[in-house]
Amino acid sequence: MRNVGEGNFYIETYGCQMNEHDSEKMAALLEDFGLRGVSSADSADVVVINTCSIREKAEHKVYSVLGKLKSLKKKNPNMITVVAGCVAQQEGDKLLNRVAHLDLVLGTHSIAQLPKLVAKIRETRKRFDRVDFSTDVESLHMPAPCKGKSKVCSYVTIMQGCSNFCTYCVVPFTRGPEQSRLQTEVVDEVRHLVQHGIKEITLLGQNVNAYGKDLANGSSFTSLLIELDRLPGLSRVRFTTSHPRDFRDDMAGAMADLESVCQHIHLPLQSGSDRILSAMNRRYKFAEYLNKIHMLRERVPGVAITTDIIVGFPGETESDFRDTRKVLEEVRFDQIFSFKFSPRPGTAAGKLPDQIPENVKADRLAAIHAIQDVITQNYHKEAEGTVEEVLVEGTRDGTGQFFGRTRTNKIVNLAPSAGIQEGDLINVRIIRGLKHSLVGEKAF
Ligand code: SAH
Ligand code: SF4
Ligand code: F3S
Repeated sequence: MRNVGEGNFYIETYGCQMNEHDSEKMAALLEDFGLRGVSSADSADVVVINTCSIREKAEHKVYSVLGKLKSLKKKNPNMITVVAGCVAQQEGDKLLNRVAHLDLVLGTHSIAQLPKLVAKIRETRKRFDRVDFSTDVESLHMPAPCKGKSKVCSYVTIMQGCSNFCTYCVVPFTRGPEQSRLQTEVVDEVRHLVQHGIKEITLLGQNVNAYGKDLANGSSFTSLLIELDRLPGLSRVRFTTSHPRDFRDDMAGAMADLESVCQHIHLPLQSGSDRILSAMNRRYKFAEYLNKIHMLRERVPGVAITTDIIVGFPGETESDFRDTRKVLEEVRFDQIFSFKFSPRPGTAAGKLPDQIPENVKADRLAAIHAIQDVITQNYHKEAEGTVEEVLVEGTRDGTGQFFGRTRTNKIVNLAPSAGIQEGDLINVRIIRGLKHSLVGEKAF
């Protein structure tokens, strides 16, 4: 058997930015512990699958990946297999009972314990699950590793969990209640990242606009943005996700006035029908959402607005769906992420009687895609000829082509040009607007 702290590890990640960031933290912990990251499970001694359970399809992935690990573990019986993330939290010891070659189920509040548990398994060969929710989540206070995936951009967790209980959503169950980090802790972490070359940060939380509400020390999302804007060397601040109910004028003001804050907001609408919004427990009406969009567009010229849409929520009629389609035409989002409703364990909507047939959901999703494709492409065409500030994030694997993003979060692939480097903040002339991206050249 290998010694504690020896060997290779591989992490496979599904789900949202929170999970991506948790994987970065787990990788940093395992490296500190003496293990070396590898790019495939084939040569790994510790394999972590960081899972997502937001929809059924995401959840099923864990079983297919575990299936593949079975034969690898036969070849290398000392391999330690770990399921982390939201499926781990949701299923707990059920996963251990179901999958004989699984060693550890690591819940979302326990990632800081990963090295300790790997050591314990190596010593005892016992199997464990760790799925308790704690009120002082060690991993929440763990700083972002300076060595994340990118040398230029970094995620920074500002809060974890969610207490909103939208009736379709598992997140309050898999991530626990809303908890904010102290503002000083966040600012210190960002300062440290900037000292290590990070130019852009993305603040992460399920509902960043509620930041500070649980702290009772006067911190708010706006006060945090103001503090971060004062840090020298930090070029860009992004954030995700905002809940429309908690998005207010002062935040639009911060977006307009603070130089570092980017002109993009992801503001998930979910449905254009008030009846469905109410059944989803979103706690806003479409008219209120639209007022916020008008206010935002007035205060932050050129702001890009993206959203999430769920089709086929239980009881969604043709008329409800027409409302959603109408809204897409009316608001003209820069981009949307749309999903077929998926019943989730433990959620109120999962148990509702009038579930929509799969073929109806598929048709509605296709209709939404068709509407949005035209809108997105029009935005991209309209961008041709404009000059945008782009932060160069790196090169495309294999091709060496540089790419970056505009302040409005649009991806720009850069035509070859001398003197472009990762981390540069450059002006770029958009020369072509494609379906999913823009092509640009350095403007002199
Ligand atoms: N905290 C974020 C969303 C996180 S989940 C927010 O409230 O805005 C990301 C998206 O997944 C949601 O906005 C929703 O559109 C979608 N989603 C969540 N649960 C779903 C379900 N059961 N079926 C289909 N889509 C779902
Ligand atoms: Fe889920 Fe709603 Fe919380 Fe977003 S706000 S994570 S959709 S419960
Ligand atoms: Fe998925 Fe959990 Fe994120 S369910 S979307 S990984 S919070």
